[in-house]
Amino acid sequence: MSKHDNLLPESPVEGLIPTLNKTGWMTEGLDDYSQDFAVYAGSVGQQGHEVLDIGCAYGVATLAALTEGARVCASDIEPRHLEILRQRVPPEYQARLRTVPGALPGVDFEHGHFAAILAARVLHFLDGPDIEQTVAKMHNWLMPGGRLYLVADTPYVGPWYTYADRYERRKAAGELWPGKVDDYAALLPAGTDPSGHPAFINPLDPDILARVCTAAGFSILSAAFLSGATKHAKGREHAGVIAVKAPETH
Ligand SMILES: C[S@@+](CC[C@H](N)C(=O)[O-])C[C@H]1O[C@@H](n2cnc3c(N)ncnc32)[C@H](O)[C@@H]1O
Repeated sequence: MSKHDNLLPESPVEGLIPTLNKTGWMTEGLDDYSQDFAVYAGSVGQQGHEVLDIGCAYGVATLAALTEGARVCASDIEPRHLEILRQRVPPEYQARLRTVPGALPGVDFEHGHFAAILAARVLHFLDGPDIEQTVAKMHNWLMPGGRLYLVADTPYVGPWYTYADRYERRKAAGELWPGKVDDYAALLPAGTDPSGHPAFINPLDPDILARVCTAAGFSILSAAFLSGATKHAKGREHAGVIAVKAPETH
């Protein structure tokens, strides 16, 4: 916890901070791939290159990357998250941060600009075609040799874990989006007003992430189930992929 954490909304759950727009929680700690992103972002930052953290919430990964020396473009659908992030960032790091409100898959960035992109725990709010469009756009936004870090919630976490068996059956049957839950409202605690909550949730696994990245033109460096960063994590809370855009050939 830093002295800036009193800017965050209060949380009833240790290790998780609620979002302001009913899109789940920001974790207070980093999974292994997001941590790898922060370190990589610092190393490319020394060369003057910018990275993108999209679906950043209050900036758990952005703050770690800035601490490593990164230049970060932090983006989120919820402008209030970005305002809080801006206030959390120490003055000496402010010049290396820009914030851009925007919603996937519609948001756009400059072609060939970023040295790395992190989308941590945001893709499962999109349906299959929107995930494919998003990852194709990310390929376009990265510079040659740039790295993509994707982390998504899996069918084994959240209130949708009750559908994990169905996901496994659908996956065995070859369905492309076997974890998708179309009646998200039914998973909310009794008495919760569903308005403003996501209509559906599309939890992912490492195979799906790798398939989408490969289709978009990336080479896969690593794909795995990842442990959540909370103390109750069991090891399959998140799915991750680290992928690379082909370097320029001369
Ligand atoms: C579950 S939080 C994850 C926050 C953080 N990246 C982490 O790993 O803990 C999801 C974040 O994605 C944002 N988000 C949801 N849908 C989005 C979309 N379509 N485009 C951009 N951001 C979105 C939410 O506002 C929220 O800040």
